[in-house]
Amino acid sequence: MQRFIVRGSFGALTGRGPQPQTTSPGPKVRPSSNLGQNPLLKSNFTLASESTQQSRIVAIYPGSFDPLTNGHLDLIARGSRLADRLIVAVLQNRRKQSLFTVEERMEMLSEVVKPYPNVEVGRFDGLLVDYVAARGANFIIRGIRAISDYEYELQIAHMNRRLSPGVETVFLMAAEAYSFVSSQLVKEVASLGGNVSGLVPPIVEEQLKHRVSQPRP
Ligand code: PNS
Repeated sequence: MQRFIVRGSFGALTGRGPQPQTTSPGPKVRPSSNLGQNPLLKSNFTLASESTQQSRIVAIYPGSFDPLTNGHLDLIARGSRLADRLIVAVLQNRRKQSLFTVEERMEMLSEVVKPYPNVEVGRFDGLLVDYVAARGANFIIRGIRAISDYEYELQIAHMNRRLSPGVETVFLMAAEAYSFVSSQLVKEVASLGGNVSGLVPPIVEEQLKHRVSQPRP
């Protein structure tokens, strides 16, 4: 049985001061539309399976994914259990020199998300909040590996909320095993002939070997 831990300051909702809350059982938790009807915080969250009247939870997991790592994949797997539909969105950043084209990144992602029927791969250009609105999504998922990620992520989340107040960012702590893994380091290690096995999915490892031996023009 899965349990979800929701941490935050809920004093205004409960009148009982901040305290961590857990909800169980079931795979998905969403904020309920009848906030405030029950003084207990627990009632402010509804299991996705309990209600068919509420809209479905659509989450966007955005990133450069140049390339996808096992840390990303772990987040995709966990995100797919939180949302009815998870869209992994590849940023098409023309200003940033990437190792793989957007098409190549999407191809690798599409391959690795096959075991997750509610996960799809998309691409976006421009503002993330516009893409979130265009896809009818409810929230953004981002991973945090260490304190060093926090400041950057906080800035992005605040900016996105300012641009689109209804859009929430949900942070998932990266799995301990991948807390040191980044696309940047993986590229560096691979380009210097190091072993990246176990840090990226096999398809990415294969493509990395090709790419570092024959850089794209
Ligand atoms: O994997 P990354 O490179 O850390 O992902 C960064 C990303 C894609 C989440 C961020 O750069 C982004 O959302 N870019 C889109 C442009 C945008 O919306 N900017 C305003 C908010 S910072």
